[in-house]
Amino acid sequence: MANVVVVGAQWGDEGKGKIVDWLSERADVIARFQGGHNAGHTLVIDGTVYKLHALPSGVVRGGKLSVIGNGVVLDPWHLVAEIEKIREQGVEITPETLMIAENTPLILPIHGELDRAREEAASKGTKIGTTGRGIGPAYEDKVGRRSVRVADLADAATLEARVDRALQHHDPLRKGLGIAAVDRDALVAQLREIAPKILQYAAPVWKVLNDKRKAGKRILFEGAQGALLDIDFGTYPFVTSSNVIAGQAATGVGVGPGAIDYVLGIVKAYTTRVGEGPFPSELLNADGTPDADGQRLGERGHEFGTTTGRQRRCGWFDAALVRQTCATSGVKGIALTKLDVLDGFETLKICTGYELDGTVLDYLPTAADQQARCKPIYEEVPGWSESTEGARSWAELPANAIKYVRRVEELIDCPVAMLSTSPEREDSILVTDPFAD
Ligand code: IMP
Repeated sequence: MANVVVVGAQWGDEGKGKIVDWLSERADVIARFQGGHNAGHTLVIDGTVYKLHALPSGVVRGGKLSVIGNGVVLDPWHLVAEIEKIREQGVEITPETLMIAENTPLILPIHGELDRAREEAASKGTKIGTTGRGIGPAYEDKVGRRSVRVADLADAATLEARVDRALQHHDPLRKGLGIAAVDRDALVAQLREIAPKILQYAAPVWKVLNDKRKAGKRILFEGAQGALLDIDFGTYPFVTSSNVIAGQAATGVGVGPGAIDYVLGIVKAYTTRVGEGPFPSELLNADGTPDADGQRLGERGHEFGTTTGRQRRCGWFDAALVRQTCATSGVKGIALTKLDVLDGFETLKICTGYELDGTVLDYLPTAADQQARCKPIYEEVPGWSESTEGARSWAELPANAIKYVRRVEELIDCPVAMLSTSPEREDSILVTDPFAD
């Protein structure tokens, strides 16, 4: 029996949806432990496409408990709308199948407004390229001890006191940005209206999960974003506002670190990123537009953001970065996705480290100016002309594709547990079952 954490090991969008769905079938409980509706997971089950942002992937599978943990920031209006949409697709969601931690901080409309106003006001080079969904400001209020949390919705006086405390901070900020002061009574009324729709799912998640563990149930901790967007270990300040790395799984739901038995890192066979920030192996022309290889990766890989529709930046596989994220998340095995997107390249490049001011580094330094100056060091490997799409065994893969995978394993110092060769669930090669390891 094992509990598994799934984390993105690059900048997000590694194709977690399919892997999480496969694992969630084997799990009893699926828990989100960080992030918010900035995430976007697409699940294809029996031909039906489900687009999830805030809900754990387990909701679309019957008989599972899905959990939104306290490490998440939750937009209650978004959640209610997402539940409605998923229900319209025939999925049943009840307080027996969905639980929200009572200590989860809420994302309020003021957070989205602040997020977007700051991004608009930011000068070139300082924009983060956020999803505009209020994630950052909501986490700021959490550590600033002025959040409205799920449990506060149950009592009118507490709710008003929490709103007043938040507005003491937000109104002066809004004034500085030229946004009108908040209509306090309207906000309280909006929250009171949504309260019962959220409170029906509220639960002491830490207790429920500890009891489930004692009863021998399997928990799948479903990460969002990617480790390079981690607030501490990512490419700061071009990051999201939560801890994304695997250690957060424990804090983000209220179980001890011993509850984590296996960390599966999801890794795309090349690299993408949405939003601003350093990206050493990005494939660009001199004028900053994607070069022919970058365009090809983007087109073949359908690299457009699930949440914002933005075109993703594309680059060669960066082994130095993945070696780093496997270390900071304690990744035991990786799921390598989208290998088929590399089909047909004559030669492939893998970034193995960086050259910075005449020195060779095998990791990305922390200082932002140094990150921006890092030049990728590439190793060239031969590509393959055959298709790997849909391969279900090593025997179906061209020799050069296997060599590429083996070289990736060596360079990142971590084995491949799974290989995904198309969006279809069955098109995978399983080496290690994380739940059985
Ligand atoms: P925020 O999370 O909306 O504050 O955005 C901060 C950064 O994280 C931006 O670069 C976003 O593009 C990026 N980001 C947030 N969520 C995701 C995701 O699910 N996939 C990829 N990038 C994301």
